[in-house]
Amino acid sequence: MTSGEVRQKYLEFFKARGHVVVPSAPLVPQNDSTTLFTGSGMQPMIGYLLGAPHPLGTRITDSQKSFRTVDIEEVGDNRHTTFFEMLGNWSLGDYFKQEQLPWFFEFLTKEIGLDPKRLYVTAFIGDEKNKLPRDTDSAEIWKQLFKEQGIEAEVALLGSEAEGYARGMKGSERIFYYDAKKNWWSRAGAPENMPAGEPGGPDSEVFYDFGTPHDPKFGKHCHPNCDCGRFLEIGNSVFMEYLKQPDGSFVPLPKKNVDFGGGLERIMSAAANIPDVLAVCHLSILNKLEELSGKTYESNAPAFRIVADHIKAASFLIGDGVLPSNTERGYFVRRLLRRAVRYADQLGVSAGLEMLVDAALESYADAYPETYAMRGTIQKEVAKEEEKFRKTLKEGLREFEKISQGKTISGRDAFLLFSTYGFPFEVTLELSKERGLAVNDEEFKAEMKKHQELSRTASAGTFKGGLADSSEQTTRLHTAHHLLLKALQMVLGPTVKQRGSNITQERLRIDFSWNEKLTPEQIKRVEAIVNEKIGEDLPVLRSELAREEAEKLHAEHEFGAKYPERVSVYSIGPKSATPEHPQFEKAFSIEFCGGPHVAHTGVIGKFKIKKEEAVAAGIRRIRGVIE
Ligand code: ALA
Repeated sequence: MTSGEVRQKYLEFFKARGHVVVPSAPLVPQNDSTTLFTGSGMQPMIGYLLGAPHPLGTRITDSQKSFRTVDIEEVGDNRHTTFFEMLGNWSLGDYFKQEQLPWFFEFLTKEIGLDPKRLYVTAFIGDEKNKLPRDTDSAEIWKQLFKEQGIEAEVALLGSEAEGYARGMKGSERIFYYDAKKNWWSRAGAPENMPAGEPGGPDSEVFYDFGTPHDPKFGKHCHPNCDCGRFLEIGNSVFMEYLKQPDGSFVPLPKKNVDFGGGLERIMSAAANIPDVLAVCHLSILNKLEELSGKTYESNAPAFRIVADHIKAASFLIGDGVLPSNTERGYFVRRLLRRAVRYADQLGVSAGLEMLVDAALESYADAYPETYAMRGTIQKEVAKEEEKFRKTLKEGLREFEKISQGKTISGRDAFLLFSTYGFPFEVTLELSKERGLAVNDEEFKAEMKKHQELSRTASAGTFKGGLADSSEQTTRLHTAHHLLLKALQMVLGPTVKQRGSNITQERLRIDFSWNEKLTPEQIKRVEAIVNEKIGEDLPVLRSELAREEAEKLHAEHEFGAKYPERVSVYSIGPKSATPEHPQFEKAFSIEFCGGPHVAHTGVIGKFKIKKEEAVAAGIRRIRGVIE
């Protein structure tokens, strides 16, 4: 069954039962600042579940594009994906358990054609502490439904997941009670994690049994919530009937709702009886990837799955307007694409990930025409990000060759690769492993921590509202900013002081004390000095000094800022300076600063001033870029 068939059957089924079909909301939530992405069908419905009347009535159904960031690291097994479609149906104070469970059972067995003997279900065991009763109604309804199919379904009280692994499943048990960690649903998870005002309720999940052998690596015995891959959760009916109170208690919502969510891709894989969601739902991308790599999916399944999932997810996110960047949502797209590049590399595919975009979107032309129509733009963005990352990797690799002469890569060097070249630490680990080198990861972690602490100091001090992030490009601009301040003092005089600063990946901005508009000649001279110092490839060093000592060196600091007893100072040059001998007296620039900075100025690129203007009486502002 194709995704189009499953989607259509589901929506038709619920339409025939009085539901209005609504289109998928975008992956970027509208008017909801609580989450970055739409990760379930209920998110766009939250207001209605809390009691607001829905303009289309009390029965709604849809198939919602969803993206779950928490699953990024899980991708690679037989069932996890970051992007998926969630089939949903809602009762907004209308029907309840007695309709919902039989309908879903009918849909699975009659419409999709699943063998009822392969279905196992769970229900909420109750929570005494929070005075939330056991969901015996659901257990009774399930018992009856199985009985009508000639299947004896016994009930088992498992409770915790651990108990599930310890005890397993016995005889004709088919209905399993679990605790709130498994059978309670709210956006915030279990009852105690819910903030006041959040709705939630017990849920009942349906699992498909592939009948594969249990893998004891996950626990002694198999049970529906076991992670070995034998059971696949294919649908969850949430009976949303409670509201958390400020005193921690639960009261009934004004109306009892049903919030159902079922993974479209998972239902497809149950329909095909293939215990591999990606093989079923990402087939075109996997085929294309086999063609590009000359390798088979079977021999490299995890890497194939990661590339396939990440390209599909990134395509849909870009389609909804999220471009790769280092801030908020864009960072996830960047992370997806960069992981895809690394795993494609493992498969021997060293370019052209954009060629997978068509394959990722081809089956969505009817369901998501707006995303499909954007595939040209999506390809361009994927290609751009891949190119950028490969350049980063190449530069980092060159540096890696330099530092990997000994037997161990120091944490300091690994950190330098990361902070200056944007070289992911995992890549350093992988390369080192390939060459039989050890990496001091304790030291790396310590450097990382130090860096984070210093960045915090920095944002409290010199760079108030300063760096937008610590990406490679921002770091380059940051070092250019130090050079620029010094160049301004050289051209205009020592009275020039920094009065504000802001740096993003695209540009730097400096506010400084000066009364007049700069002449074109002055601007040219300032640019020339900065570029000369870049050309000299001066070392950039960080030292920790007593505040007084730093002040004696006339290290630049922001007017009015308060600094701690010990401060971090960055000096640029002279050429012969080393961390042990910073030679402050010969340095071109010294500033109080928490970093991060490039290790030497040669990597910055060509600096250019884009704009010079007044921002306040006696304060000028310059915007500069790296070309
Ligand atoms: N809202 C429920 C879920 O996401 C259906 O699992």
